[in-house]
Amino acid sequence: MTKLTIRRPDDWHLHLRDGEMLKGILPETSRHFARAIIMPNLVPPVVTGDQAAAYRDRILAALPEGAAFEPLMTLYLTEATDPADVAAAAASGLVKAVKLYPAGATTNSHSGVRDFDKVRPVLERMAEIGLPLCLHGEVTDSDVDIFDREAVFIDRVLDPIRRATPGLRVVMEHITTSDAVAYARSAGDDLGATITTHHLVINRNHILVGGIKPHYYCLPVAKRESHRLALREAATSGEARFFLGTDSAPHIDALKEHACGCAGCFTATNTLSILAEVFEQEGALDRLEGFTSLNGPRFYRLPPNEAQITLTRGAPVIYPDKIQTGAGPVTVFDPGFPLHWHVNN
Ligand code: DOR
Ligand code: ZN
Repeated sequence: MTKLTIRRPDDWHLHLRDGEMLKGILPETSRHFARAIIMPNLVPPVVTGDQAAAYRDRILAALPEGAAFEPLMTLYLTEATDPADVAAAAASGLVKAVKLYPAGATTNSHSGVRDFDKVRPVLERMAEIGLPLCLHGEVTDSDVDIFDREAVFIDRVLDPIRRATPGLRVVMEHITTSDAVAYARSAGDDLGATITTHHLVINRNHILVGGIKPHYYCLPVAKRESHRLALREAATSGEARFFLGTDSAPHIDALKEHACGCAGCFTATNTLSILAEVFEQEGALDRLEGFTSLNGPRFYRLPPNEAQITLTRGAPVIYPDKIQTGAGPVTVFDPGFPLHWHVNN
C-alpha cells in the first residue's frame, strides 16, 4: 500500500499550554487533527467552567488563519470541585471530560486529588450524566517503584473507584503496561484507554542506555520492551476501547535538558507519520483509521469527522528537529527510524 485515505484524526489527550507556547505549538496539531481533548494542567489549573471557557477562547484566538480545529475542553478535578459547576459545564457542551491527577503524579499536579473520598460527589454526578473521567493512572507513594506505579494504581485506586461508582465512564490515559491493556480488556464499554505515539516506539532502554535522553522522558515513564509490545498489539488490534491520545507535551529545551528535567515528549509534529510507520510495521495499516479517527469519537459519543486526510508513502519525511516558539525552542520527538508516510491535508 502506498496511499491511505482516512477520516481526519482526533487527539484524545493533548497539552497546548498557554501564551507564547500555545501560539507556537498549536499549528503543529491543527495541521492534521480536527479535534483534541485539551489537558487542564496550566498554572493555575483550569478548574471551573468559566476558566475552561476563557481557555477555549485563548486557544481559538491562537489558531492559524483558516484552521478548522475544535478544542474539547476538560476540567481539572480538585478536592474542592463543585459537582454543580461540572454538570453545568457539561450540559452547555463546553466540557467533554474531567481530568483526575493524583496529587504530585506529574507536571502541575499539586492541586490534584489526595483523598479520593473527597471527590466522590463529583464522580457520582459524572456517572449520572455520562461525563467521562480521564485518569492519570499512577500512584504517588514514595515506596512504590516508578516502573510499578501504573499497575499498582489499577489495583489500589482505579478498580475500587469503578466498583464504588457504577456507570462512571473512565478513560485510562496514556497506558504503558501490559497490566493496563489486560485491565482495559476486562471491562465493558464504560472503559476506554488511550495510547501515545511515543509509548509505541520507545522502551526504558531508549531513555537510559548510552547516556540519559531527556527528550524521551515522560510520565508515565516508558517501561520494559514486553510492555511496549503489548501496547503495539493493543493499538493495532482494531479493538474499539483503544484510541490515540498523543500526550504531546511541550517543554522548552532549557527545561528538558536540565538537572531536573521536565516530563513530556513533544510528538504533535510527526505523530501521524510515526503511527503510519508503526501500523505498517505491524501489518495493520487498515486499522490505523480506527485508532486515530473512529474509536475515540465512539467512546466520547461524538460523530467521527467527515473531512479526510491522505497519507502517501514515499521518500523519507523531512520534519524540523525543533519548533521555535516565542517561549523558546521545543524539540520534536525523534522516533529513531526514518518515516515514509507523508500527510497531505
Ligand atoms: O510526560 C508528561 N507530561 N506526562 C504528564 O502526565 C504531564 C505532561 C506535561 O504536562 O508536561
Ligand atoms: Zn498528559
